[in-house]
Amino acid sequence: FDPADVAPRLLAWYGLEGRDLPWRGCRDPYRIWLSEIMLQQTTVAAVIPYYEKFLLACPDVAALAASSPEEVIALWAGLGYYSRARNLHAAARRIVAEGGGAFPDDLPGLMALPGVGRSTAGAILAIAYDKKGVILDGNVRRVLCRLFALEGDPRSAAAEGKLWGWAEALTPEDRPHDYAQAIMDLGATLCAPKRPDCPRCPLIDLCRGRQLGLEMVLPAARAK
Ligand code: ADE
Repeated sequence: FDPADVAPRLLAWYGLEGRDLPWRGCRDPYRIWLSEIMLQQTTVAAVIPYYEKFLLACPDVAALAASSPEEVIALWAGLGYYSRARNLHAAARRIVAEGGGAFPDDLPGLMALPGVGRSTAGAILAIAYDKKGVILDGNVRRVLCRLFALEGDPRSAAAEGKLWGWAEALTPEDRPHDYAQAIMDLGATLCAPKRPDCPRCPLIDLCRGRQLGLEMVLPAARAK
């Protein structure tokens, strides 16, 4: 299929079926960054109450930088993976100390923040700044493994290169803000790990995994 066919379908689907989440519609890089860090290893349902509580205590990067490490860890208590909270706090202090509070707005600047990898930087670029940011998080990875019927261990170096290449090829220049959330929503809802809901999927007629009858067995298990 033509990679250019994917984004218009996803965007049309997202307009009708996209989820209404607390950070949707938001363009504040601080809030988008916070939501993306919380969502790294945690589901949307678990994140929402923490996200709201965190923003009441630390409504902007200056407030976060001014908090004590203990306060930040207390706000994170129960969410898990506490290095995320320590990195968030360290990054806020660096943004205030070195950038005068200005949030980075390009890929290298975002990736230089502790706790922000390539995919999270791509998500912030797209969602906060509506720039072309390429995302390859767990949800997008699963969508691409199925769409392209990726054979073999999806965590191998060879697969990693292919997946980033596909993610890049599918990401449109137009409406990156909406596209980022559309593809993550597809992975979190219809293209779920178990029992994908293919009949409702806007990509069903493009999906090589589905055409090959492999939608239930992709992504392949990681090699041990
Ligand atoms: N998972 C990671 N980032 C997300 C977002 N912005 N919306 C929905 N799910 C996500």
